[in-house]
Amino acid sequence: MKIIGGDVQANSEGAQADTLPTMTNLANVQETSQQGAAPLELDGKHIVLGLSGGIACYKAAELCRALIRAGATVQVVMTEAAEQFITPVTMQALSGRPVYTSQWDSREDNSMAHINLSREADALVVAPMSADFMAKLLHGRADDLLSLMCLARRIDKVPLLVAPAMNREMYAHPATQRNFVQLEADGATVLGVGNGFQACGETGDGRMLEPAQLLEDVIAFFTPKVLAGQRVLVTAGPTYEAIDPVRGITNLSSGKMGFAIARAAREAGAEVTLVAGPVSLETPRGVTRINVKSAQNMLEATEIRAHVATVFIATAAVADWRVATPSQQKIKKDGSGAAPQLTFMENQDILATVAQSPAARDGRLYCVGFAAESHDLLSNAQAKRLRKQVPLLVGNIGPDTFGQDHNTVLLIDAQGATELPRASKLSLARQLVREIASRITLQNKPLAP
Ligand SMILES: Cc1cc2nc3c(=O)[nH]c(=O)nc-3n(C[C@H](O)[C@H](O)[C@H](O)COP(=O)(O)O)c2cc1C
Repeated sequence: MKIIGGDVQANSEGAQADTLPTMTNLANVQETSQQGAAPLELDGKHIVLGLSGGIACYKAAELCRALIRAGATVQVVMTEAAEQFITPVTMQALSGRPVYTSQWDSREDNSMAHINLSREADALVVAPMSADFMAKLLHGRADDLLSLMCLARRIDKVPLLVAPAMNREMYAHPATQRNFVQLEADGATVLGVGNGFQACGETGDGRMLEPAQLLEDVIAFFTPKVLAGQRVLVTAGPTYEAIDPVRGITNLSSGKMGFAIARAAREAGAEVTLVAGPVSLETPRGVTRINVKSAQNMLEATEIRAHVATVFIATAAVADWRVATPSQQKIKKDGSGAAPQLTFMENQDILATVAQSPAARDGRLYCVGFAAESHDLLSNAQAKRLRKQVPLLVGNIGPDTFGQDHNTVLLIDAQGATELPRASKLSLARQLVREIASRITLQNKPLAP
């Protein structure tokens, strides 16, 4: 059996062991040890976090912490207006670095903070970006440190990501909408806005995205786009087979693995649709979610979308059987002590159905199955791969994975089995996505003459 995993263990721990624990990298060490040996997503990345004037500055404090927990070092730069909303003291304490607020800062030997800070950065993230600050950027104005840095950065080396935050009327104003278009045309990445209740008491578009969402976007931004151009369809979670209007049969699948795969595929540049059984997990950023309940619902939703997909990953723990005739009314105890007699019928196998479709048979749709076994993982998973006729099958032990955040999986293909050692489901999902990408690339390689 081939074992991979060297790349999982290697980098961050070794690097950090040689480094004195400053405030900033102490946060990394803590997070690394919580997650085991897996590298952090933003290890080695240096982010300049710019704050302009808006109520959402309070969320920037949480974003700063989230970036650091994900392994980044963060240098905060604030406009004068941002200082009205949150103090540099707070941002310094959270980032572990003195905050810069003025282009006239004399701490830099050459007096050119705008050059020095922007040259060190892997990305400049402006969150929140006020309407005023955006208008400034568009005109190439540079009368404060943050806008000066945005203009002075090496445009081909230091990407600019912006998270707008403003009142809904400001957001909808034609000038603002025009500015978004121009900002993207000038090469910035606009991370979008949320919808909901605003500090001014109004409701609508324009809220800054939540720190966790922004973190997901920043991580996705840095992820190599190994699935660019692919349309990935993922099923996740359990299914629920009704017995009567108030009871049903389900299983303990949490959906975490499928949701992690959807997130990892989107990070890798794919257009992702997630068909989810009844779970209450947050939809990953940028993923289209279809909620279903029963195995039959899941089959219908999946078959329609499989026609346009290029990769299908069947993670859901689909019920093999359903009750043949669910009762229309709640089944009542009648006091006799007799248990109700239920008759079951087999559900159509979703993975096998999709794997037999013309697109899958002629190689336009790459199918990946999951097997949750209780014993003899290798032989059961190998047998399932052959039975379902899929090129790749991921085997895991059901009781070890259901509801858990970590897992160990076996990848089984025609060449043999590869173990992905115990790691978080997100880490496993990212490895799986890379494995799928390399197999698709091989599959699509023209045959040697
Ligand atoms: C209480 C208050 C809240 C504000 N919130 C926002 C906001 O959420 N978004 C925005 O674009 N402007 C907001 N403004 C206006 C900006 O702070 C103002 O345009 C400022 O000049 C922005 O400066 P800067 O872009 O240099 O940071 C707010 C103003 C006040 C007084």
